[in-house]
Formats: sequence, structure tokens, C-alpha cells
Amino acid sequence: MILVTGANGQLGRRIVEHLVIRLGGTAGIAVSVRDAGKAADLSRRGIAVRQADFDQPATLAAAFAGIDKLVLISTDGPRDARIAQHRNAIAAARAAGVRHILYTSFLDVAADSPAEFAAVHRATEAELAASGLRVTLLRNPLYADLLPMALGGALAGGDGSFALPAGTGKASFVSREELAEAIAAAAAAPALAKDVYELTGQAVHDYHEVAAAVAAVTGRTLRYLPTDAASHAAALVAHGLPDWLAGALANMYAAVAAGRFERVTNDFAALVGRPPRPLACLAQELFGSR
Ligand SMILES: NC(=O)c1ccc[n+]([C@@H]2O[C@H](COP(=O)([O-])OP(=O)(O)OC[C@H]3O[C@@H](n4cnc5c(N)ncnc54)[C@H](OP(=O)(O)O)[C@@H]3O)[C@@H](O)[C@H]2O)c1
Repeated sequence: MILVTGANGQLGRRIVEHLVIRLGGTAGIAVSVRDAGKAADLSRRGIAVRQADFDQPATLAAAFAGIDKLVLISTDGPRDARIAQHRNAIAAARAAGVRHILYTSFLDVAADSPAEFAAVHRATEAELAASGLRVTLLRNPLYADLLPMALGGALAGGDGSFALPAGTGKASFVSREELAEAIAAAAAAPALAKDVYELTGQAVHDYHEVAAAVAAVTGRTLRYLPTDAASHAAALVAHGLPDWLAGALANMYAAVAAGRFERVTNDFAALVGRPPRPLACLAQELFGSR
């Protein structure tokens, strides 16, 4: 049986739906969620819904019992809390007899990365390596779905400018929906050729190019203004984001500026059978009605 954690989250729920398509039904699929009431629809469709909170290790043994493959969705929150949550989940999976963990990691896991997210995923990848279990790392690039957050203010009014501390660094952008499709394909595959999949798009772009792609579908003049990480974090806090998230997002863009996301692979296509959508299509989908 395959279990997907975080199935009430945006990525987790999409992975479940793609697994149902890949496996031709709900048989053999289980999920773990913190609030089972929010997964009642999955339960009605025959998916085994188990309650699990990575902060409460006592909940995890029953949740992971009888599971062969675990799709471990990284949690959100401050760095040390996330690392501890992932550690608890991996230890419980091992104790429960899980044989294979597929983990939604991040493209940037470098030890010298400025990104706090890199530190979380690097630590979790190390825990996985030490577990002795079969491990498949599914390293996600930047979600395309984050672009409206970055450009929304510029589209809402003002002079059409938006500031990010990404310099002229380039990254590829893939939607949650397509990442979920690739992760489900990996989970459903009877065999996998590799242990590490980097689910990048087929091209990298800097934010000047992102601005141009969004301008092309909205007809609006957009201008990207590189800024520094501290100013960006302060602006996010002023918009109401918690300190940890503002800091983590700012230093994620600093990692983009440092070129940490500047690579493309064919790993997505190897799993799904076609490449993910290019930036022009994503811009149409995310901004076409604005
Ligand atoms: N690559 C990127 O650009 C990017 C962007 C954003 C996020 N991410 C990462 O990808 C993950 C999934 O993204 P998403 O968009 O689906 O985020 P999301 O909707 O916020 O989902 C986060 C998931 O983490 C689960 N979670 C949080 N704390 C937990 C705990 N203590 N025990 C068990 N589960 C816990 C949540 O469970 P509940 O449903 O019970 O709340 C939720 O399902 C995020 O958590 C983050 O690690 C990557």
C-alpha cells in the first residue's frame, strides 16, 4: 500500500488525485492528515485516511502500519521544527516496516546555499540516507504558483514594478499540479531508474524574462527591480508574513541570485512521458484572466 502524507495540503491532495488516475482507482492508496475531517471526501471514495501529526510521534506508528511506500511531503514552518518533524516521520516509517520513502525535496540542497529551505532539505536527505530504507528524492524547483505572489502587487496598481532579491539569477518554474503528476508517477512506478530526480522545467529564466512573459499575456507594463534580501524580508513582514517565512523567502531568492536554481534536467519527462509546460503557458494560465 502507498501512503501520501500531507494529503490535505495543496501538493499532497494533487498527488493523491494523480495516483488514483495512475493506479486506475483508489485501491492500495492511503493518506495521512492532521485533520481527518478535512479528508472525509477521500474516505468516501475508498482511500484509507489515517490521522498523523509529525509533532506527535505517538500518532505515527498506527498511521504508517502496513505501508510499503511512503510519499513524504515536506512540512512547512520554521527550520528546526521542520527538520524535527521529518526526522520523526522517517523514524516512524522505519519502525513500521515501510520499505521505500519518496521525499519531496528541493532543487537547492547545497551546504553553502544562503537558503534556509536548502538547510531543511539537506538535513532531511541526510536522515533518509542514514535510515537504511530505499529512498527516492524528488527535488522540486520553484513552484510556478508562487509567481502571482511575487507579481500580484505590480499587477494590482502602481507603476508595474516588483522587487525581489533574485538579482539576475535564473530558475525554472513548474506548477504544483505538474509536480504532483511527476511525484505520483514515481510513486506508482513498479521500478525507478534513479534515486534522485530533479523536476525542473526545460528552460531557466530570470525575473526580467518572467516580467516580459506576464506582460505578454496581461498587456501590462511590468518591471523587475532587483533588491537586497534584508529589504525584501522587511517588506514581506510589513505585509503581514511571519518573520521566519519572510526571512526564508528572501534568502530563497538570494539562492536564485547565486545561481542555485540555474539548471535543467529531463527527469520530469522521464517520469511523466512529456516535459512540463513552458513559462509562456504558465503565464497564460496564472495571469491570463487578470
Ligand atoms: N518548491 C517550492 O517552491 C515550494 C513552495 C511552497 C512549499 N514548498 C514545500 O512543499 C510542501 C508542500 O507544499 P504545499 O503547497 O502543498 O503546501 P501546503 O498546502 O501548505 O501543505 C503543507 C502540508 O504540510 C503538512 N504539515 C505541516 N505540519 C505538519 C505536521 N506537523 N505533521 C504532518 N503534516 C504537517 C500540512 O498538513 P495539514 O494539511 O494537516 O495542515 C500540509 O498538508 C510545503 O510544506 C513545503 O515544504 C515548496
